[in-house]
Amino acid sequence: MRLNIVCIPGDGIGPEIVAEAKKVLHKVADKYGHEMVFKDILMGGASIDVHGVPLTDEAIAIAKAADAVLMGSIGGDTNTSPWYQLPPEKRPEAGLLKIRKALNLFANLRPAVLYEELAAACPLKEEISAAGFDILIMRELTGGLYFGERKTVEENGVRKAIDTLTYDENEIRRIAIKGFDIARKRKKKLTSVDKANVLDSSRLWRAVVNEVAKEYPDVKVEHMLVDNCAMQLVKDPAQFDVVLTENMFGDILSDEASMVTGSIGMLASASLNDTKFGLYEPSHGSAPDIAGKDLANPIATILSASMMLRYSFDLDQEADAIDAAVKKVLQDGYRTGDIMSEGCKKVGCKEMGSLITERI
Ligand code: IPM
Ligand code: MG
Repeated sequence: MRLNIVCIPGDGIGPEIVAEAKKVLHKVADKYGHEMVFKDILMGGASIDVHGVPLTDEAIAIAKAADAVLMGSIGGDTNTSPWYQLPPEKRPEAGLLKIRKALNLFANLRPAVLYEELAAACPLKEEISAAGFDILIMRELTGGLYFGERKTVEENGVRKAIDTLTYDENEIRRIAIKGFDIARKRKKKLTSVDKANVLDSSRLWRAVVNEVAKEYPDVKVEHMLVDNCAMQLVKDPAQFDVVLTENMFGDILSDEASMVTGSIGMLASASLNDTKFGLYEPSHGSAPDIAGKDLANPIATILSASMMLRYSFDLDQEADAIDAAVKKVLQDGYRTGDIMSEGCKKVGCKEMGSLITERI
C-alpha cells in the first residue's frame, strides 16, 4: 500500500518525537511491504519564524492532499517566547485551530488508559486505581467557544471581552454518531457531558444526543454535568468508557483524564473528519524546557502513528505490531525520565525510539 503522510514536527520537543515515530513507521513499511511517502510542513512557531504566520495556505493545501497527518507539538513558553508578543491570530495555537477547521476535523479522540506497567505513576489512591481504566474522551473540535465570534471592546471607559458559544444540531449529531459508533466497538457505554443546568447549547446537546441514542439501543447512555464529571474522573474513573463532550469541556477534561493516568507521555490522539482522513498527535504539549536534550518521551507520538495506521489506513495488523512493541519495551524495563521508576533502565528519546523499532 502507498501511504502519503504529511508530518508537522512543530515546536519544542516536536521534531525529536516525530523523528522517532518516523523511524518506527519506516520499519513497519519495510516489514509489511508498504511504501510510505513523507512530506513535512511548518506549523506553529516554526512557521511564524519563517513565514510570519503560524500556518500558510500552501501548508494547508499540502496537508489536504495527503492521506493523513502526523503531528508532534506546537507552541512555546507563553511567558518568555516572542511568539506570544504577536496578536492572538498570529500565535502558534492559531495554526492548530486553523488546520482543524480547514480539514473539518470535528471529532477528537483522546484515549486515557492506565498502563499496567506504569500503575505506580498513577496519582490516585491504590484502591481507586486498582480497578484500572480505559477511557476514550471524544471531544468536539471545530465548534463551540473556540470558534465562536469574539471581541474585546471598550464601553464607557470599561473594557469588555465577549466570546460566543454556538452549536447547531448538525454539529452535535455528527459527533454523537461518531461517539456511539465507537462506543459500540468498545464497552458499549457512552457518557455525554454538558452543563444543561445552565447553558442552552448544552440543553440542545443533550436533546440531540438522546435522539441519536435511539439508533443505538445496545449502547448504554448517560448524561453527566461537566463539574460532576471532573470530580468523577478522580473519584471513580473505571465507570467511564466513551465520554462525549463539546470543545472546551473536552479540552479541560482530556487534560485531567490524561494526568490521572500518570503517564501523559504515553497518550495518543486522533482528530478525524467524516472520511478516512485524520490528524494524529500526542496528547501532551511541546515541553520547551526539555526540547533538544534527548529527554522527551516519543511513545505518545509513536502510538499516534499506530492510531493513524488503524483509523486512516485500516492497517490493524501493523498498528497492533507497534502497540505490542511499545508494551514489550515497557515490560523489558526501559523508561524515559517522565515515566521512570525504581529498578528500570532510563533511556533518552532516540534510544526509546530505536528500542521500539527493534521490537517491530
Ligand atoms: C489541545 C490544546 C489546544 C486546544 C490549544 C493549543 C489551542 O490545548 O489540543 O488540547 O485547546 O485545543
Ligand atoms: Mg488542551
